[in-house]
Amino acid sequence: MIDIHHHLIYGVDDGAPNLETSLAMAQEAIHEGVTHIVCTPHANDVHPYRLERNRERLDEIQAALGDSVQLLLACDFHLNADNICDALEYPLRYSIDGKGYLLVEFSELAIPPQLDDALNRLRGVGYTCILTHPERNPIIVRKPERMVQWMRSGALVQVTASSLYGRFGRIAESFSNQLLDLNWIHFLATDAHNLTSRPPHLRKAYDYVANRCGVETAERLCQLNPLAAISGHKLPRQPEPIGLYEDEPVKFSQNFKSSGVGHRPAGKPPGILSRLFRRAK
Ligand SMILES: [Fe+2]
Repeated sequence: MIDIHHHLIYGVDDGAPNLETSLAMAQEAIHEGVTHIVCTPHANDVHPYRLERNRERLDEIQAALGDSVQLLLACDFHLNADNICDALEYPLRYSIDGKGYLLVEFSELAIPPQLDDALNRLRGVGYTCILTHPERNPIIVRKPERMVQWMRSGALVQVTASSLYGRFGRIAESFSNQLLDLNWIHFLATDAHNLTSRPPHLRKAYDYVANRCGVETAERLCQLNPLAAISGHKLPRQPEPIGLYEDEPVKFSQNFKSSGVGHRPAGKPPGILSRLFRRAK
């Protein structure tokens, strides 16, 4: 498996506080079956992004780990004005291994309509934007139709692995499972910050998706699509995202029930689906 969102680099944000923790997090990921970790320090008002420092520390961690896992550099890119201007001025600076895929996080306080244009401009200079954990953003959860235009314009979606089985609460669990059942997710990633409250666990989500949707989907979200992203290639053929291109807006359930971890047999359509996408009359 390949984890494309991981705060592994120590001392640069609210992720690993020291080298020992970085190494322990990497070992935990390796134990899970992860072969590549994309290290994604924050770039926001609290944690400015310093490319050279991040690169130096990544190299230090990589040297200590040897070839047991491959580390790549990227950024947890907060979509604010300063970041957008810098990313436009230095194309591909913030993307995964400089190859074009950009992890984009929206504010939880406001998502002004102008950000639609910002996404288009970022695309215009070569980035492929990956929307990170929309299931944890209260604005998007309340108005999931905001995702429609972004995705129609080419944005991809990354969900936090443990959201699927309730680690971020019932709302994130319900919303992420709806996205999963609609084929609106392209990547699962840990967004690991430490070994305890935000651990680098991807295997449980892989198994959960394999049980719910089939092993092909688990492979696509945890291996094949991430491999394309770290390689800078186009994603392989994806299943049709249900409801994304309908004339009428899709209807997400706002009845946030727990999905029941992995109880639904693989291959069967979710019982909730028929209620999700009744077209507006
Ligand atoms: Fe993150």
